[in-house]
Amino acid sequence: MIRSAIITVMEQAARKAGRTLVRDFGEVENLQVSLKGPANFVSAADRRAEEIIHAELSKTRPDFSFLMEERGAVSGKDASNVWIVDPLDGTTNFLHGIPLFAISIAHVKDGVPQAGLIFNPVTDELFVAERGKGAFLHNRRIRVAARRELANCVITCGIPHRGRGDPARFHRELGAVQQQVAGLRRTGAAALDMAWVAAGRFDGFWERGLSAWDLAAGLVILREAGGFATDIEGGEDILDKGTVVAGNEEIQRALLALLRTA
Ligand code: IPD
Ligand code: CA
Ligand code: CA
Repeated sequence: MIRSAIITVMEQAARKAGRTLVRDFGEVENLQVSLKGPANFVSAADRRAEEIIHAELSKTRPDFSFLMEERGAVSGKDASNVWIVDPLDGTTNFLHGIPLFAISIAHVKDGVPQAGLIFNPVTDELFVAERGKGAFLHNRRIRVAARRELANCVITCGIPHRGRGDPARFHRELGAVQQQVAGLRRTGAAALDMAWVAAGRFDGFWERGLSAWDLAAGLVILREAGGFATDIEGGEDILDKGTVVAGNEEIQRALLALLRTA
């Protein structure tokens, strides 16, 4: 693929932040045994990565605005162009030494995601997409899986943990899906869930209680890979509501219908 200027900028920022995340990830293992625990260290790592991404993106697009998980919204001169950044998606995995986490960067113009990048710096897997130009893993074009029967599908989901979401509702949804599919997974990194549906590894994904930075990049990548996504009510408000149901056209529809029965 020919990298456009915007993807090049995003990739440079992600790779630079990725190097510090990998270094810090190495440190986490040493900290597991310390009494203070690695939690503070991880939130510092998270902020460090975000600072790098912010600095790199600002260098080449000084006017763009930002929505970042740690810093929040930072308005620039140009309010219509926004970078949406999760510097570390999969914090709990990172904290536990599980190499399943990613940097997620999206470029959104007038509320519409235009370009997305999801990068796991441990596996060095780089997913990118630009509106109308296809989705790629490294330089290889990716597509959602073609399975049409839920019975053959591996579906990934998000599980609300301590103090979050509605556990009873989740259990109903899980019960409804569990009976119909070949397998269920929970990666702990929503950005990777989206990228892996786009790459055809997972056939579908649903989760509630997410934020725009978990999903914006993944949405572009998924759609450019031929995938479909709606919010959990079947509408278009994925980023605002923070809920998502994703898959190929048939599986997305089937999964949505199933969740509605829960
Ligand atoms: C979390 C991950 C996780 C999802 C959580 C998110 P974070 O993001 O994406 O998979 O279930 O709801 O908050 O906190 O690791 O950036
Ligand atoms: Ca996240
Ligand atoms: Ca995060």
